[in-house]
Amino acid sequence: MMRGTGVMRVLISVFCVCCCESSVQRNKQRFSIQELTVTGVDLKDCGKQKNVCVMSSSDCLNTASDGTPDVLTSPENFVNTSCHFVKHEESFTCRWSQMSHVTTVNTFIISRENDIISCRSILNPYSSFDFVIKSVNVFSQREIFSHVSSVILDEIVQAPRPVITSVNSTDTSLNVSWTSKDVTVTKCQIRYRRLDTESWTESVVLDVCVEFVHIICDLQPFTEYSVSVCCCHESGQWSQWSSEARVMTSETMPRAAPQVSYYLALDRTSGSRQLWILWKALDPSDAGGIIQGYEVSVTRLSERRSVRTSDLKVCVPVVSEEYDITVTAYNRAGRSPYHQLRVSADHLQAVSVVEGLWVSSEGLSLRLHWIYDLTAVNVSEFAIEWRSSSKPSSGGWKRVNGCYSYALLSGIISEETYSISVYSIHGSLCGPPVSVSADLKHGTLMDLVSFRLVSVTKSCVTVKCVWRETEPSVHVLQYTLMIKGKHLSQYLTVFPHKEQNSFYNLQPNTQYTLYIHGQTTSGKVSKASLDVKTPLLDYDDIIKCCVPLVLLVLGFGIFSVVIKRACKEYFCSDVADPGYSQIGHWLLNAPRQANSKVCVLMLEDVFTVDQSEKNVIRVESRVSSDENVKMSSKGADETSDDEENSVRPSCPVDYVGLPVITADNLDYVPSSL
Ligand SMILES: *[C@@H]1O[C@H](CO)[C@@H](O)[C@H](O)[C@H]1NC(C)=O
Ligand SMILES: *[C@@H]1O[C@H](CO)[C@@H](O)[C@H](O)[C@H]1NC(C)=O
Ligand SMILES: *[C@@H]1O[C@H](CO)[C@@H](O)[C@H](O)[C@H]1NC(C)=O
Repeated sequence: MMRGTGVMRVLISVFCVCCCESSVQRNKQRFSIQELTVTGVDLKDCGKQKNVCVMSSSDCLNTASDGTPDVLTSPENFVNTSCHFVKHEESFTCRWSQMSHVTTVNTFIISRENDIISCRSILNPYSSFDFVIKSVNVFSQREIFSHVSSVILDEIVQAPRPVITSVNSTDTSLNVSWTSKDVTVTKCQIRYRRLDTESWTESVVLDVCVEFVHIICDLQPFTEYSVSVCCCHESGQWSQWSSEARVMTSETMPRAAPQVSYYLALDRTSGSRQLWILWKALDPSDAGGIIQGYEVSVTRLSERRSVRTSDLKVCVPVVSEEYDITVTAYNRAGRSPYHQLRVSADHLQAVSVVEGLWVSSEGLSLRLHWIYDLTAVNVSEFAIEWRSSSKPSSGGWKRVNGCYSYALLSGIISEETYSISVYSIHGSLCGPPVSVSADLKHGTLMDLVSFRLVSVTKSCVTVKCVWRETEPSVHVLQYTLMIKGKHLSQYLTVFPHKEQNSFYNLQPNTQYTLYIHGQTTSGKVSKASLDVKTPLLDYDDIIKCCVPLVLLVLGFGIFSVVIKRACKEYFCSDVADPGYSQIGHWLLNAPRQANSKVCVLMLEDVFTVDQSEKNVIRVESRVSSDENVKMSSKGADETSDDEENSVRPSCPVDYVGLPVITADNLDYVPSSL
């Protein structure tokens, strides 16, 4: 009854009977997989064309009166076409690979040599027919057709999809059980994939007789997998994959120890020392499950203290001693290995802190930006901690590589104020945090109030910004400090934690203007400006110039004094000025006129030249009977104190450095008296 009288040309193509999708999926990069399923209710007849059934009435026009499609076939677009018939659904499905990825609308055109009695009931196990697949490009409306294929439905009956009944899991394996409606099923295959990946892993073909059970081994602990099964009966037509079962492998002990860093801080008011210990959350691949918390133990001598926390930091008060610290993570299955550290709390240790931190909002996230002086130490990582002040559960930790200077914090609740801290980490040592408060509406809860000059030199201007903790009136993405002169302008991003900002390489004796701008989403807001003029010379320059000059003058002075002395000493001997001595005075201005009192110089007594003491000349003048003047070329130490005291001169005594006076010089003194 199935054989009609139609004269459709029959081209029998080879059907790829095995339909396990995977073989087709491997070529996904170049081909797109097409699938078309039809049931009896989708099929319509074509009026006068008694031997044709179509899915869309418009397809009737495409068949000529003799039932042959009047267009060219395009078999390269229907690669590896495979079709099957599912008995209990009475559905006919074909799958093929299409070269391009364009969207197409596909339909079947079914025909038979003789008339079809009912299109609705043509899909039954005893039926056979010819069919063509028509594919219409939805954009270009170009129609392409497959070869005409002939099919006997009984030969392409597919095993029904199996049903997974249970999946039991351990930490590394899954025990999968399934059933099939078809008792004649002899072979099955299982495939599984991690939920976070796309590619499936297939098991070998399993011979199943009594039990439909298989154990998948070597899986990751605490990972969610998706599993499905397909089976096939004797005739060899594989079923479709069963619906996927999702299951999680159980937890195992954490595999790795947490990475630990610390810093020592001194409380200036109380003088107490605190040891801050920070650690990094275990990687999900090492955690083996859900980390429930961390245990930190601090041991000094034999005294041991342990703290359990779900946070990633802890503060321990310490004294100046050595401490052993261990940190371990634990989940339901057990503990991780320990991370061990020995810390000497004798001297304070910390990595230098982040220099500036600014937070702005970006959508529903907070964007952090900071600066760090990498010349001091190479930071391996930055740890970021954020915590809502009213909802302590809203917050967390994040680590970023040491070469980054920004981070994005998501999961931020609007209307909540967050305290955000950034720690710099260098191996097992870290620095104290730098913190700001921020929310989604305002960004950083700080406002720049003003700025003032700290110092001006001929090439450098240093400015200090003054900040205030408040809700700013505008949301500033960042503040920029700018210096503008005739020949140059420079920019700096300013941060609340950076006390001073400097501009270098300025020109001396030049007028500059400093500005502060706040960058907002809608543009710039100007905060303040200031005029400044660089000096021609710096204080240092002046010092540098003047000191050598002063030294030179001083040196010259000293030199000239020394020279003068030396000259006096060795070349121009002192000659006693007789005018200064009493005796000389007397000799030079001898009062010839007879006064009432006559001064007599007894010459024979005056000079007694002692040959043994050539240098010492004793000059004795007797102005009156008991008045003595003693002169000595070398000083008064020749005369005894007693003598001096006993014979007190009535006239002031002058001591002059005298050269040796020989007897010839006696002429100098007039002896006319
Ligand atoms: C068609 O099937 C063959 C054999 O299974 C396979 O090697 C080939 O890659 C398939 N071609 C496409 C385009 O899927
Ligand atoms: C796998 O699961 C089935 C059904 O739950 C059970 O009968 C069988 O003993 C399990 N096999 C193993 C190795 O646990
Ligand atoms: C930081 O690392 C670079 C490259 O490894 C190195 O050249 C530099 O000396 C390091 N700086 C410090 C302060 O350790």
